[in-house]
Amino acid sequence: MKINLTINGKSCEADVEPRLLLVHLLRDVEGLTGTHIGCETSICGACTVHLNGAAVKSCTVLAVQADGAAITTIEGLAQNGELHAVQEGFWECHGLQCGYCTPGMIMASCALLKDNPSPTESEIRHGLEGNLCRCTGYQNIVSSVQYAAEKLKTQA
Ligand code: FES
Ligand code: FES
Repeated sequence: MKINLTINGKSCEADVEPRLLLVHLLRDVEGLTGTHIGCETSICGACTVHLNGAAVKSCTVLAVQADGAAITTIEGLAQNGELHAVQEGFWECHGLQCGYCTPGMIMASCALLKDNPSPTESEIRHGLEGNLCRCTGYQNIVSSVQYAAEKLKTQA
């Protein structure tokens, strides 16, 4: 099936099998390997991207379901060479160790802060509970999101 979508601001056309998952389109067809695959069963959140601005787990979306949509991946977050506030937060607050979960954590955090620019610690923990990290114990991730929330307020 032919599909047309926008990925990180660029128009893309692809000829895909109906069973192809969005995460495989991104990684294997478009070469955007920043989106990771952890479980392929909707548990870990490593594959989180934005579909029309909402965070989705791209292992649970078919590529054909993204026909006509705008997708943003971790590669599309930085603008003009400047890290997004959430990326900066993960850098400054040591929100990552192995980094495997990090692209998904960051994409989920961006969507969380879009919906709730001033989340409490428990709202951050609740908002990220669909994303698993096996390294950090989460405290630094929470601090990273809090850093980003403050930074985004100064940018507004
Ligand atoms: S790979 Fe998609 S949720 Fe784990
Ligand atoms: S930093 Fe390693 S899984 Fe999260």
